[in-house]
Amino acid sequence: MRSYECAVILHPAVSDDGLKASTARYVDIINHAGGEITRVETWGKRRLSFEIMKQPEGHYFFYKFRGAAKLVDDRDLKYVHPPRKDSIGACSAPYGPAHVEVRDASGTVVATAKTEATNHCWVTGLRPDTEYTYRVVVKDAEWAAGERWDWSSTEQALVQMGARYDNRFRTHPDPQTQSPLTFAVIGDFGVGVKTTSTRRRQQQVADALRHAVDREGVRLILTTGDNIYATKKLFGIAVSASGDEDDDWFFTYFQPYRYILNRIPVYPSIGNHDADESEACDDRTQVEDNFYLCERLAGEEAAGRASFRPGLFYRFRYGSDIEFVCIDTSKEAFFTRDRLFVLPKHWEFLETSLTGSADGVRWRLPFAHHPPFSAGPRHRNTKSMARLLPLFQRSGVKAMFSGHEHNFQHSQHEGIDYFVTGGAGRTRPEPPDRFDAAHTSSWSSACHFLLIAIEGDQMAVRAIGEGVTDASALSDIVRYGRDGAEVAAPMLVRKARA
Ligand SMILES: [Fe+2]
Repeated sequence: MRSYECAVILHPAVSDDGLKASTARYVDIINHAGGEITRVETWGKRRLSFEIMKQPEGHYFFYKFRGAAKLVDDRDLKYVHPPRKDSIGACSAPYGPAHVEVRDASGTVVATAKTEATNHCWVTGLRPDTEYTYRVVVKDAEWAAGERWDWSSTEQALVQMGARYDNRFRTHPDPQTQSPLTFAVIGDFGVGVKTTSTRRRQQQVADALRHAVDREGVRLILTTGDNIYATKKLFGIAVSASGDEDDDWFFTYFQPYRYILNRIPVYPSIGNHDADESEACDDRTQVEDNFYLCERLAGEEAAGRASFRPGLFYRFRYGSDIEFVCIDTSKEAFFTRDRLFVLPKHWEFLETSLTGSADGVRWRLPFAHHPPFSAGPRHRNTKSMARLLPLFQRSGVKAMFSGHEHNFQHSQHEGIDYFVTGGAGRTRPEPPDRFDAAHTSSWSSACHFLLIAIEGDQMAVRAIGEGVTDASALSDIVRYGRDGAEVAAPMLVRKARA
Protein backbone atom coordinates (compact mmCIF):
# COMPACT_ATOMS: atom_id res chain seq x y z
CA MET A 1 0.00 0.00 0.00
CA ARG A 2 1.14 3.54 -0.69
CA SER A 3 0.91 6.55 1.62
CA TYR A 4 -1.19 9.51 0.57
CA GLU A 5 -1.86 13.00 1.83
CA CYS A 6 -5.06 14.82 0.94
CA ALA A 7 -6.10 18.39 1.78
CA VAL A 8 -9.79 19.26 1.55
CA ILE A 9 -11.08 22.84 1.47
CA LEU A 10 -14.75 23.41 2.17
CA HIS A 11 -16.83 26.50 1.48
CA PRO A 12 -16.52 29.06 4.35
CA ALA A 13 -20.31 29.17 4.80
CA VAL A 14 -20.60 25.46 5.61
CA SER A 15 -22.07 24.96 9.12
CA ASP A 16 -20.45 22.96 11.93
CA ASP A 17 -22.86 20.08 11.25
CA GLY A 18 -21.98 20.27 7.55
CA LEU A 19 -18.26 20.13 8.37
CA LYS A 20 -18.78 17.06 10.55
CA ALA A 21 -20.85 15.37 7.85
CA SER A 22 -18.23 16.13 5.19
CA THR A 23 -15.40 14.80 7.34
CA ALA A 24 -17.37 11.63 8.03
CA ARG A 25 -18.01 11.20 4.32
CA TYR A 26 -14.33 11.42 3.36
CA VAL A 27 -13.39 8.98 6.11
CA ASP A 28 -16.15 6.67 4.89
CA ILE A 29 -14.92 6.85 1.28
CA ILE A 30 -11.36 5.96 2.30
CA ASN A 31 -12.47 3.16 4.60
CA HIS A 32 -14.89 1.77 2.03
CA ALA A 33 -12.10 1.59 -0.54
CA GLY A 34 -9.93 -0.44 1.84
CA GLY A 35 -7.71 2.47 2.86
CA GLU A 36 -6.26 2.96 6.31
CA ILE A 37 -6.50 6.47 7.78
CA THR A 38 -3.43 7.36 9.81
CA ARG A 39 -4.22 10.99 10.67
CA VAL A 40 -7.00 13.58 10.35
CA GLU A 41 -6.15 17.24 11.06
CA THR A 42 -8.65 20.10 11.30
CA TRP A 43 -6.91 23.36 10.45
CA GLY A 44 -9.96 25.63 10.76
CA LYS A 45 -10.91 28.51 8.52
CA ARG A 46 -7.91 29.92 6.68
CA ARG A 47 -7.23 32.49 4.00
CA LEU A 48 -6.68 31.08 0.51
CA SER A 49 -3.63 32.19 -1.47
CA PHE A 50 -6.00 32.84 -4.37
CA GLU A 51 -9.77 32.90 -4.62
CA ILE A 52 -11.64 29.69 -5.40
CA MET A 53 -15.19 30.10 -6.68
CA LYS A 54 -14.89 33.78 -5.64
CA GLN A 55 -14.24 32.81 -2.02
CA PRO A 56 -11.14 34.29 -0.28
CA GLU A 57 -11.11 31.70 2.53
CA GLY A 58 -12.21 28.11 3.34
CA HIS A 59 -12.30 25.38 5.99
CA TYR A 60 -9.17 23.23 5.78
CA PHE A 61 -8.98 19.51 6.57
CA PHE A 62 -5.91 17.36 6.13
CA TYR A 63 -5.95 13.56 5.81
CA LYS A 64 -3.09 11.08 5.83
CA PHE A 65 -3.91 7.56 4.80
CA ARG A 66 -2.54 4.43 3.22
CA GLY A 67 -4.17 2.49 0.39
CA ALA A 68 -3.77 0.59 -2.85
CA ALA A 69 -4.96 1.86 -6.23
CA LYS A 70 -8.29 0.17 -6.63
CA LEU A 71 -10.62 -0.43 -9.51
CA VAL A 72 -13.95 1.12 -8.70
CA ASP A 73 -16.76 -1.41 -8.66
CA ASP A 74 -19.97 -0.20 -10.27
CA ARG A 75 -21.76 -0.16 -6.93
CA ASP A 76 -19.06 2.16 -5.55
CA LEU A 77 -19.35 4.75 -8.30
CA LYS A 78 -21.56 6.79 -5.97
CA TYR A 79 -18.48 7.37 -3.83
CA VAL A 80 -16.38 9.01 -6.56
CA HIS A 81 -16.46 12.74 -7.00
CA PRO A 82 -18.69 13.75 -8.60
CA PRO A 83 -20.78 10.59 -8.11
CA ARG A 84 -21.44 8.51 -11.22
CA LYS A 85 -23.72 5.70 -12.32
CA ASP A 86 -21.48 4.33 -15.06
CA SER A 87 -17.95 4.70 -16.35
CA ILE A 88 -17.42 3.30 -19.86
CA GLY A 89 -19.33 2.61 -23.05
CA ALA A 90 -21.36 4.59 -25.55
CA CYS A 91 -24.13 5.44 -23.08
CA SER A 92 -21.89 6.48 -20.18
CA ALA A 93 -22.28 9.99 -18.84
CA PRO A 94 -19.63 12.42 -20.13
CA TYR A 95 -16.64 13.31 -17.97
CA GLY A 96 -16.88 16.88 -19.18
CA PRO A 97 -16.64 18.96 -22.34
CA ALA A 98 -14.17 17.20 -24.63
CA HIS A 99 -12.47 17.76 -27.94
CA VAL A 100 -10.25 15.68 -30.19
CA GLU A 101 -7.33 16.95 -32.25
CA VAL A 102 -6.02 14.85 -35.14
CA ARG A 103 -2.58 15.60 -36.57
CA ASP A 104 -0.92 14.42 -39.76
CA ALA A 105 2.67 13.26 -40.12
CA SER A 106 3.96 16.84 -40.13
CA GLY A 107 2.25 17.56 -36.80
CA THR A 108 -0.36 19.85 -38.33
CA VAL A 109 -3.84 19.66 -36.86
CA VAL A 110 -5.98 18.46 -39.79
CA ALA A 111 -9.26 17.70 -38.04
CA THR A 112 -11.02 18.42 -34.78
CA ALA A 113 -14.24 17.33 -33.17
CA LYS A 114 -15.90 18.12 -29.88
CA THR A 115 -18.66 16.89 -27.63
CA GLU A 116 -20.32 17.88 -24.39
CA ALA A 117 -23.06 15.25 -24.31
CA THR A 118 -21.17 11.97 -24.80
CA ASN A 119 -17.87 10.21 -24.20
CA HIS A 120 -17.28 9.76 -27.92
CA CYS A 121 -17.48 11.78 -31.10
CA TRP A 122 -16.87 11.37 -34.80
CA VAL A 123 -13.92 12.89 -36.59
CA THR A 124 -14.52 13.50 -40.29
CA GLY A 125 -12.54 14.78 -43.22
CA LEU A 126 -9.56 12.42 -42.93
CA ARG A 127 -7.77 11.00 -45.96
CA PRO A 128 -7.96 7.27 -46.72
CA ASP A 129 -5.06 4.97 -45.90
CA THR A 130 -3.21 7.71 -44.01
CA GLU A 131 -1.47 7.64 -40.65
CA TYR A 132 -2.44 10.18 -38.01
CA THR A 133 -1.88 10.90 -34.36
CA TYR A 134 -4.49 12.31 -32.00
CA ARG A 135 -5.10 13.56 -28.53
CA VAL A 136 -8.25 13.92 -26.48
CA VAL A 137 -8.74 16.88 -24.15
CA VAL A 138 -11.38 16.73 -21.43
CA LYS A 139 -12.07 19.77 -19.27
CA ASP A 140 -8.88 21.44 -20.57
CA ALA A 141 -6.64 18.51 -19.58
CA GLU A 142 -5.21 15.87 -21.89
CA TRP A 143 -7.06 12.62 -21.32
CA ALA A 144 -5.02 9.60 -20.26
CA ALA A 145 -1.65 11.30 -20.68
CA GLY A 146 1.45 9.85 -19.05
CA GLU A 147 2.06 6.52 -17.43
CA ARG A 148 -1.09 4.44 -16.94
CA TRP A 149 -2.23 2.23 -14.09
CA ASP A 150 -2.75 -1.34 -15.25
CA TRP A 151 -4.18 -4.37 -13.51
CA SER A 152 -1.63 -6.76 -12.01
CA SER A 153 -3.03 -10.26 -11.45
CA THR A 154 -0.15 -11.06 -9.09
CA GLU A 155 -0.60 -7.96 -6.90
CA GLN A 156 -4.41 -7.95 -7.39
CA ALA A 157 -4.23 -4.20 -7.77
CA LEU A 158 -3.72 -1.45 -10.29
CA VAL A 159 -0.02 -0.67 -10.61
CA GLN A 160 2.17 1.41 -12.88
CA MET A 161 4.22 -0.74 -15.26
CA GLY A 162 5.55 1.95 -17.56
CA ALA A 163 2.84 1.72 -20.22
CA ARG A 164 1.52 4.79 -22.02
CA TYR A 165 -0.94 5.29 -24.83
CA ASP A 166 0.52 5.64 -28.29
CA ASN A 167 -2.34 7.50 -29.93
CA ARG A 168 -1.77 6.88 -33.61
CA PHE A 169 -3.90 5.15 -36.20
CA ARG A 170 -4.19 4.62 -39.93
CA THR A 171 -7.46 5.15 -41.75
CA HIS A 172 -8.94 2.36 -43.87
CA PRO A 173 -8.18 2.53 -47.62
CA ASP A 174 -10.48 4.05 -50.21
CA PRO A 175 -13.34 1.59 -50.92
CA GLN A 176 -12.45 1.72 -54.62
CA THR A 177 -8.80 0.82 -54.10
CA GLN A 178 -7.42 -2.69 -53.81
CA SER A 179 -5.25 -2.87 -50.73
CA PRO A 180 -3.42 -5.60 -48.84
CA LEU A 181 -4.67 -6.25 -45.33
CA THR A 182 -3.26 -7.75 -42.15
CA PHE A 183 -5.84 -8.46 -39.47
CA ALA A 184 -6.27 -10.54 -36.33
CA VAL A 185 -9.05 -12.80 -35.07
CA ILE A 186 -9.66 -13.53 -31.39
CA GLY A 187 -12.29 -15.85 -29.98
CA ASP A 188 -13.66 -16.98 -26.62
CA PHE A 189 -11.43 -14.50 -24.86
CA GLY A 190 -13.74 -12.92 -22.28
CA VAL A 191 -12.64 -14.83 -19.21
CA GLY A 192 -11.04 -11.68 -17.79
CA VAL A 193 -7.57 -10.88 -16.53
CA LYS A 194 -8.37 -10.52 -12.84
CA THR A 195 -6.64 -13.83 -12.26
CA THR A 196 -4.55 -16.02 -14.49
CA SER A 197 -4.02 -19.78 -14.61
CA THR A 198 -2.96 -22.48 -17.04
CA ARG A 199 -6.48 -22.37 -18.52
CA ARG A 200 -7.03 -18.61 -18.32
CA ARG A 201 -4.58 -16.93 -20.68
CA GLN A 202 -6.35 -13.80 -21.87
CA GLN A 203 -3.71 -11.30 -20.76
CA GLN A 204 -0.87 -13.39 -22.17
CA VAL A 205 -2.56 -13.67 -25.58
CA ALA A 206 -3.47 -9.97 -25.46
CA ASP A 207 0.19 -9.12 -24.84
CA ALA A 208 1.22 -11.15 -27.89
CA LEU A 209 -1.52 -9.47 -29.92
CA ARG A 210 -0.20 -6.06 -28.95
CA HIS A 211 3.23 -7.00 -30.28
CA ALA A 212 1.59 -8.13 -33.54
CA VAL A 213 -0.26 -4.81 -33.84
CA ASP A 214 3.02 -2.95 -33.29
CA ARG A 215 5.11 -5.00 -35.68
CA GLU A 216 2.83 -6.40 -38.36
CA GLY A 217 0.60 -3.44 -39.13
CA VAL A 218 -2.62 -5.14 -37.98
CA ARG A 219 -5.45 -2.93 -39.24
CA LEU A 220 -8.48 -4.48 -37.55
CA ILE A 221 -9.59 -7.26 -35.22
CA LEU A 222 -12.53 -9.63 -35.60
CA THR A 223 -13.97 -11.48 -32.64
CA THR A 224 -15.55 -14.90 -32.97
CA GLY A 225 -17.75 -14.35 -29.93
CA ASP A 226 -17.94 -15.22 -26.26
CA ASN A 227 -16.66 -11.72 -25.61
CA ILE A 228 -17.54 -11.97 -21.93
CA TYR A 229 -18.21 -14.92 -19.64
CA ALA A 230 -19.94 -15.13 -16.30
CA THR A 231 -17.19 -14.84 -13.71
CA LYS A 232 -18.48 -17.60 -11.42
CA LYS A 233 -20.64 -20.62 -11.99
CA LEU A 234 -22.30 -23.05 -9.64
CA PHE A 235 -23.54 -26.30 -11.15
CA GLY A 236 -23.24 -24.65 -14.57
CA ILE A 237 -25.39 -21.65 -13.62
CA ALA A 238 -23.98 -18.12 -13.53
CA VAL A 239 -24.02 -16.89 -9.95
CA SER A 240 -22.14 -13.64 -10.33
CA ALA A 241 -21.40 -10.80 -12.69
CA SER A 242 -21.83 -11.67 -16.33
CA GLY A 243 -21.11 -8.52 -18.23
CA ASP A 244 -23.82 -6.33 -16.83
CA GLU A 245 -21.38 -4.08 -14.99
CA ASP A 246 -18.68 -1.79 -16.36
CA ASP A 247 -16.01 -3.32 -14.14
CA ASP A 248 -16.71 -6.74 -15.71
CA TRP A 249 -15.90 -5.21 -19.08
CA PHE A 250 -12.82 -3.54 -17.68
CA PHE A 251 -11.34 -6.93 -16.88
CA THR A 252 -12.48 -8.77 -20.02
CA TYR A 253 -12.02 -6.11 -22.69
CA PHE A 254 -10.87 -2.60 -21.84
CA GLN A 255 -7.84 -3.53 -19.70
CA PRO A 256 -6.36 -6.44 -21.71
CA TYR A 257 -6.64 -4.63 -25.05
CA ARG A 258 -6.38 -1.03 -23.90
CA TYR A 259 -3.21 -0.21 -25.86
CA ILE A 260 -4.75 -1.72 -28.99
CA LEU A 261 -8.27 -0.29 -28.78
CA ASN A 262 -6.92 3.26 -29.01
CA ARG A 263 -5.40 2.43 -32.42
CA ILE A 264 -7.47 -0.07 -34.40
CA PRO A 265 -11.17 -1.05 -34.62
CA VAL A 266 -12.64 -4.28 -33.26
CA TYR A 267 -15.59 -5.95 -35.00
CA PRO A 268 -17.45 -8.35 -32.68
CA SER A 269 -19.74 -11.29 -33.25
CA ILE A 270 -22.05 -12.81 -30.66
CA GLY A 271 -21.36 -16.08 -28.83
CA ASN A 272 -23.63 -18.23 -26.70
CA HIS A 273 -22.09 -16.70 -23.54
CA ASP A 274 -22.90 -13.18 -24.78
CA ALA A 275 -26.54 -14.12 -25.21
CA ASP A 276 -28.75 -15.91 -22.70
CA GLU A 277 -28.39 -19.18 -24.57
CA SER A 278 -25.92 -20.52 -22.00
CA GLU A 279 -26.11 -17.97 -19.17
CA ALA A 280 -28.95 -16.44 -17.24
CA CYS A 281 -27.78 -12.95 -18.18
CA ASP A 282 -28.11 -11.64 -21.73
CA ASP A 283 -25.17 -9.32 -22.42
CA ARG A 284 -26.18 -8.16 -25.88
CA THR A 285 -27.05 -4.66 -24.70
CA GLN A 286 -23.64 -4.37 -23.08
CA VAL A 287 -21.93 -5.68 -26.23
CA GLU A 288 -23.74 -2.97 -28.22
CA ASP A 289 -22.73 -0.34 -25.67
CA ASN A 290 -19.09 -1.28 -25.19
CA PHE A 291 -18.35 -1.88 -28.87
CA TYR A 292 -20.28 1.32 -29.77
CA LEU A 293 -22.29 -0.70 -32.28
CA CYS A 294 -25.33 1.59 -32.50
CA GLU A 295 -23.03 4.51 -33.26
CA ARG A 296 -20.77 2.63 -35.68
CA LEU A 297 -23.56 0.85 -37.54
CA ALA A 298 -26.09 3.69 -37.61
CA GLY A 299 -27.72 3.77 -41.02
CA GLU A 300 -26.22 0.45 -42.07
CA GLU A 301 -29.47 -1.51 -41.65
CA ALA A 302 -31.34 0.98 -43.82
CA ALA A 303 -28.57 0.65 -46.41
CA GLY A 304 -28.90 -3.15 -46.42
CA ARG A 305 -25.52 -3.71 -44.79
CA ALA A 306 -26.79 -4.85 -41.40
CA SER A 307 -29.68 -6.65 -39.70
CA PHE A 308 -30.32 -6.22 -35.99
CA ARG A 309 -32.39 -7.19 -33.01
CA PRO A 310 -32.71 -9.84 -32.10
CA GLY A 311 -29.24 -10.58 -33.38
CA LEU A 312 -26.14 -8.91 -34.80
CA PHE A 313 -25.54 -9.23 -38.54
CA TYR A 314 -23.47 -6.76 -40.54
CA ARG A 315 -20.93 -6.54 -43.33
CA PHE A 316 -18.14 -4.12 -44.09
CA ARG A 317 -15.46 -3.70 -46.71
CA TYR A 318 -11.77 -3.10 -46.50
CA GLY A 319 -10.69 -1.55 -49.79
CA SER A 320 -12.32 -2.85 -52.96
CA ASP A 321 -11.29 -6.47 -52.59
CA ILE A 322 -12.31 -7.68 -49.14
CA GLU A 323 -15.67 -7.87 -47.40
CA PHE A 324 -16.36 -9.33 -43.96
CA VAL A 325 -19.78 -10.70 -43.02
CA CYS A 326 -20.69 -11.06 -39.34
CA ILE A 327 -23.18 -13.88 -38.72
CA ASP A 328 -25.00 -14.23 -35.41
CA THR A 329 -25.17 -17.97 -34.77
CA SER A 330 -26.56 -17.76 -31.25
CA LYS A 331 -30.10 -18.65 -30.23
CA GLU A 332 -32.61 -16.07 -29.14
CA ALA A 333 -33.03 -17.79 -25.77
CA PHE A 334 -32.19 -21.01 -23.98
CA PHE A 335 -35.40 -22.79 -25.00
CA THR A 336 -35.33 -21.55 -28.60
CA ARG A 337 -34.55 -24.31 -31.04
CA ASP A 338 -33.42 -22.39 -34.10
CA ARG A 339 -30.48 -20.09 -34.42
CA LEU A 340 -31.07 -16.43 -35.14
CA PHE A 341 -29.87 -16.60 -38.72
CA VAL A 342 -32.97 -18.54 -39.77
CA LEU A 343 -35.25 -15.59 -38.95
CA PRO A 344 -36.54 -14.34 -42.32
CA LYS A 345 -35.05 -10.84 -42.19
CA HIS A 346 -31.62 -12.15 -41.15
CA TRP A 347 -31.69 -14.93 -43.72
CA GLU A 348 -32.57 -12.41 -46.42
CA PHE A 349 -29.65 -10.26 -45.27
CA LEU A 350 -27.27 -13.22 -45.50
CA GLU A 351 -28.51 -14.29 -48.92
CA THR A 352 -28.11 -10.75 -50.22
CA SER A 353 -24.72 -10.29 -48.58
CA LEU A 354 -23.26 -13.59 -49.68
CA THR A 355 -24.85 -14.34 -53.02
CA GLY A 356 -25.70 -10.84 -54.26
CA SER A 357 -23.49 -9.02 -56.75
CA ALA A 358 -19.87 -9.23 -55.72
CA ASP A 359 -19.29 -5.72 -57.11
CA GLY A 360 -15.58 -6.34 -57.45
CA VAL A 361 -15.11 -8.02 -54.08
CA ARG A 362 -12.67 -10.92 -54.30
CA TRP A 363 -12.72 -12.10 -50.69
CA ARG A 364 -16.01 -12.61 -48.87
CA LEU A 365 -15.13 -13.65 -45.36
CA PRO A 366 -17.86 -14.76 -42.93
CA PHE A 367 -17.11 -14.82 -39.21
CA ALA A 368 -19.33 -16.19 -36.45
CA HIS A 369 -19.19 -18.00 -33.15
CA HIS A 370 -20.35 -21.55 -33.82
CA PRO A 371 -18.18 -23.65 -36.13
CA PRO A 372 -19.69 -25.72 -38.92
CA PHE A 373 -16.86 -28.19 -38.31
CA SER A 374 -15.23 -29.02 -35.00
CA ALA A 375 -13.44 -32.17 -33.92
CA GLY A 376 -13.94 -31.45 -30.24
CA PRO A 377 -13.06 -32.34 -27.59
CA ARG A 378 -16.23 -30.71 -26.21
CA HIS A 379 -18.03 -29.20 -29.19
CA ARG A 380 -18.64 -31.23 -32.34
CA ASN A 381 -19.86 -30.01 -35.72
CA THR A 382 -22.69 -27.51 -35.25
CA LYS A 383 -25.44 -29.28 -37.17
CA SER A 384 -27.59 -26.23 -37.75
CA MET A 385 -24.64 -24.48 -39.43
CA ALA A 386 -25.04 -26.94 -42.33
CA ARG A 387 -27.80 -24.68 -43.62
CA LEU A 388 -25.21 -21.96 -44.29
CA LEU A 389 -22.77 -24.11 -46.25
CA PRO A 390 -24.66 -23.96 -49.60
CA LEU A 391 -24.70 -20.16 -49.25
CA PHE A 392 -20.93 -20.19 -48.78
CA GLN A 393 -20.50 -22.38 -51.85
CA ARG A 394 -22.75 -20.27 -54.08
CA SER A 395 -21.03 -17.05 -53.05
CA GLY A 396 -17.46 -18.23 -53.60
CA VAL A 397 -16.46 -18.06 -49.92
CA LYS A 398 -12.98 -19.54 -49.49
CA ALA A 399 -12.44 -19.13 -45.76
CA MET A 400 -14.58 -18.78 -42.63
CA PHE A 401 -13.69 -18.00 -39.02
CA SER A 402 -15.48 -19.20 -35.90
CA GLY A 403 -14.83 -19.95 -32.23
CA HIS A 404 -16.76 -21.83 -29.49
CA GLU A 405 -14.31 -24.70 -29.04
CA HIS A 406 -11.36 -23.49 -26.97
CA ASN A 407 -8.58 -24.59 -29.26
CA PHE A 408 -7.31 -24.09 -32.79
CA GLN A 409 -8.65 -26.14 -35.68
CA HIS A 410 -8.21 -25.93 -39.42
CA SER A 411 -10.67 -27.91 -41.53
CA GLN A 412 -10.96 -28.12 -45.29
CA HIS A 413 -14.26 -29.09 -46.88
CA GLU A 414 -15.39 -28.80 -50.49
CA GLY A 415 -12.90 -26.07 -51.36
CA ILE A 416 -13.43 -23.90 -48.25
CA ASP A 417 -10.99 -23.49 -45.35
CA TYR A 418 -12.68 -23.33 -41.94
CA PHE A 419 -10.74 -21.97 -38.97
CA VAL A 420 -11.78 -22.44 -35.33
CA THR A 421 -10.05 -19.92 -33.09
CA GLY A 422 -11.50 -20.17 -29.61
CA GLY A 423 -8.36 -19.99 -27.50
CA ALA A 424 -7.67 -16.28 -26.92
CA GLY A 425 -8.61 -16.50 -23.26
CA ARG A 426 -9.76 -19.91 -22.21
CA THR A 427 -7.95 -23.09 -23.23
CA ARG A 428 -9.05 -26.70 -23.37
CA PRO A 429 -5.99 -28.96 -23.20
CA GLU A 430 -7.74 -32.25 -23.99
CA PRO A 431 -7.12 -33.18 -27.65
CA PRO A 432 -9.91 -33.30 -30.22
CA ASP A 433 -10.69 -36.69 -31.75
CA ARG A 434 -13.48 -36.53 -34.36
CA PHE A 435 -11.20 -35.60 -37.21
CA ASP A 436 -13.03 -37.35 -40.04
CA ALA A 437 -16.37 -35.71 -39.30
CA ALA A 438 -14.68 -32.32 -38.96
CA HIS A 439 -12.47 -32.69 -42.07
CA THR A 440 -9.53 -31.66 -39.93
CA SER A 441 -6.22 -30.58 -41.48
CA SER A 442 -4.47 -29.47 -38.30
CA TRP A 443 -5.22 -28.52 -34.71
CA SER A 444 -3.64 -27.30 -31.50
CA SER A 445 -4.71 -26.92 -27.88
CA ALA A 446 -2.43 -23.92 -27.31
CA CYS A 447 -3.89 -20.52 -26.55
CA HIS A 448 -3.50 -18.20 -29.53
CA PHE A 449 -4.95 -15.60 -31.86
CA LEU A 450 -5.03 -15.67 -35.65
CA LEU A 451 -2.81 -13.32 -37.63
CA ILE A 452 -3.93 -13.15 -41.25
CA ALA A 453 -2.39 -11.40 -44.22
CA ILE A 454 -4.26 -10.99 -47.51
CA GLU A 455 -2.42 -9.81 -50.59
CA GLY A 456 -4.09 -10.12 -53.97
CA ASP A 457 -5.27 -13.69 -54.45
CA GLN A 458 -3.49 -15.16 -51.42
CA MET A 459 -4.37 -15.33 -47.75
CA ALA A 460 -1.76 -16.53 -45.24
CA VAL A 461 -3.08 -17.64 -41.84
CA ARG A 462 -0.89 -17.95 -38.75
CA ALA A 463 -1.90 -18.99 -35.24
CA ILE A 464 0.26 -16.97 -32.85
CA GLY A 465 0.85 -18.10 -29.28
CA GLU A 466 1.68 -16.33 -26.03
CA GLY A 467 5.13 -15.53 -24.72
CA VAL A 468 6.09 -12.83 -27.22
CA THR A 469 8.47 -10.27 -25.73
CA ASP A 470 10.10 -7.08 -26.96
CA ALA A 471 13.13 -9.16 -27.90
CA SER A 472 11.44 -12.24 -29.36
CA ALA A 473 9.65 -12.90 -32.62
CA LEU A 474 5.97 -13.74 -32.90
CA SER A 475 5.80 -17.48 -32.36
CA ASP A 476 3.47 -19.79 -34.27
CA ILE A 477 1.88 -22.43 -32.06
CA VAL A 478 2.75 -26.03 -32.84
CA ARG A 479 -0.04 -27.63 -34.87
CA TYR A 480 -0.72 -31.32 -35.22
CA GLY A 481 -2.27 -33.50 -37.89
CA ARG A 482 -4.81 -36.24 -37.35
CA ASP A 483 -2.00 -38.71 -36.65
CA GLY A 484 -0.49 -36.50 -33.96
CA ALA A 485 2.53 -35.55 -36.05
CA GLU A 486 3.55 -31.90 -36.19
CA VAL A 487 2.31 -29.97 -39.20
CA ALA A 488 4.77 -27.37 -40.43
CA ALA A 489 3.22 -26.47 -43.78
CA PRO A 490 1.94 -22.86 -43.89
CA MET A 491 -1.80 -22.32 -44.07
CA LEU A 492 -2.43 -20.63 -47.40
CA VAL A 493 -5.77 -19.94 -49.05
CA ARG A 494 -6.09 -18.77 -52.65
CA LYS A 495 -9.00 -16.96 -54.24
CA ALA A 496 -9.11 -16.21 -57.93
CA ARG A 497 -11.20 -13.24 -58.94
CA ALA A 498 -14.74 -14.30 -59.92
FE1 LIG B 1 -19.24 -20.69 -27.06
